[in-house]
Amino acid sequence: MYFFSPELEIFLDLAVARMRRGQGAVLLLQGPPGGGKTAFAKAVAEKIEGILHYYVGAPDKERNLLYEVDVSGVLRRQNAWVLGPAWQAFAESTAGRHAVLLIDEVDKTNQGFDAFLLRLLEEWTFRSPDGDEVKANPSKLVVILTSNGRRELRPEVLRRCQRVYVPLPDKKRLFEIVRQIAGGIVLPDGLLSVLFRIADALRKADSELAPSPKEIALCACDLLRLTAIGTDEMVIWREVAASWLVKNGGPSVIDDALPQYRWARALRTEAQR
Ligand SMILES: Nc1ncnc2c1ncn2[C@@H]1O[C@H](COP(=O)(O)OP(=O)(O)OP(=O)(O)O)[C@@H](O)[C@H]1O
Ligand SMILES: [Mg+2]
Repeated sequence: MYFFSPELEIFLDLAVARMRRGQGAVLLLQGPPGGGKTAFAKAVAEKIEGILHYYVGAPDKERNLLYEVDVSGVLRRQNAWVLGPAWQAFAESTAGRHAVLLIDEVDKTNQGFDAFLLRLLEEWTFRSPDGDEVKANPSKLVVILTSNGRRELRPEVLRRCQRVYVPLPDKKRLFEIVRQIAGGIVLPDGLLSVLFRIADALRKADSELAPSPKEIALCACDLLRLTAIGTDEMVIWREVAASWLVKNGGPSVIDDALPQYRWARALRTEAQR
């Protein structure tokens, strides 16, 4: 389940209404890592009861948004193409079914992608490798781009998108999200507070590498498990916590981010409470 902030709820409503009017619902979600951009796109697909077609941005791979060469098909001289996510989403929409095309991490593509995207969003059509015209029905399709801001998209593309800033969830929301990810496992407030404190410190050091709510939840579950199996050694607590929370090194990264704070001991105390 996605927790919508009031702002995101409104943007979702506007986008769906625009889609129904056939005016093109294209959203560009921007914001810090772990803020819930990708999860928002999945939630939109659920809301409109459409299938999510997922593409992750990478340099020089724009064609794969439309199709990929199927080598075994080529060898058999048939079905030489595998439909890419845009093709699938376009086909779904023209068949009268709702679809969401998620172009995730669009800032990881290179500039050439923008011209390509522009045509797609402007004309809602492209040519298949066989020369056929593939069309979308914009009144059934939502396109969502996400970006961490590594590069700016070209102004022509930006003009076709509604920009939506997705901030990090506030503390209250964060508790709800993390608890939901943990499922039936009850996560104590104190343990989560220490984890959030560590995550904040890591975010200050490097926002791209900060743990998301998902890693925090999984970390909390593992730490509770350490308590259940009676593991007392601090080295293990440090290693397990760092394995979830740190992306660029070991426990010493947390030591550096939080000098003077005995974070592993605090985690153990709160988990054992
Ligand atoms: N509002 C929310 N409701 C429910 N879950 C959320 C919410 N925000 C974040 N999450 C959870 O946090 C995790 C990280 O979110 P997500 O991957 O969507 O972030 P992101 O903004 O796409 O990050 P990145 O820029 O690193 O790709 C996901 O597993 C998701 O389940
Ligand atoms: Mg994402």
